[in-house]
Amino acid sequence: MMLVQRVVDALNEQLISEFAASAQYLAAAVYFEELVLPELAAFFFRQAEEERTHALKIVRFLLETGCKPLIPATPEVRNEFDSAEDAVQMALDQEMKVTDEINNIMRIAGEETDYTTQSFLQWFVKEQVEEVDTMSNLLQTIRHAAGNLLWVEDYVRRNPQHGGQTAAGAA
Ligand code: FEO
Repeated sequence: MMLVQRVVDALNEQLISEFAASAQYLAAAVYFEELVLPELAAFFFRQAEEERTHALKIVRFLLETGCKPLIPATPEVRNEFDSAEDAVQMALDQEMKVTDEINNIMRIAGEETDYTTQSFLQWFVKEQVEEVDTMSNLLQTIRHAAGNLLWVEDYVRRNPQHGGQTAAGAA
């Protein structure tokens, strides 16, 4: 095993967050699908897939370094939302939490002079900047739309960087 246990534990802990994020985005996709807002639904279906790829990246990294990934149960998923704004605020809060978590693992890896993990996590650091930006832009757009969610639908379709078809994130 190439990594110290403390780092392995932190990465396994992160697996919970990434799988939970995937499930949580799926719940948001269902919410938007039920409201017949297909662009927002598709956006969250894609986000759910992305989160799963984040989890799989960690699984593969642990395997490559001779460590044992622990596949977790998904924590409780929130399935009810008061509004589109509420659902997207949830997503933004989640991305900010994940950013803190990634930074924390970076710090632990630094303390252990574990450059292997730090170099692996570099991708996540960059990805989090993008995801927080995407979600905060989407939230702002929903606020500007002031209840006109068809306008938000159009916006998501026309702005790939804010979650449209060609959004980056293919892991
Ligand atoms: Fe995998 Fe959106 O953090």
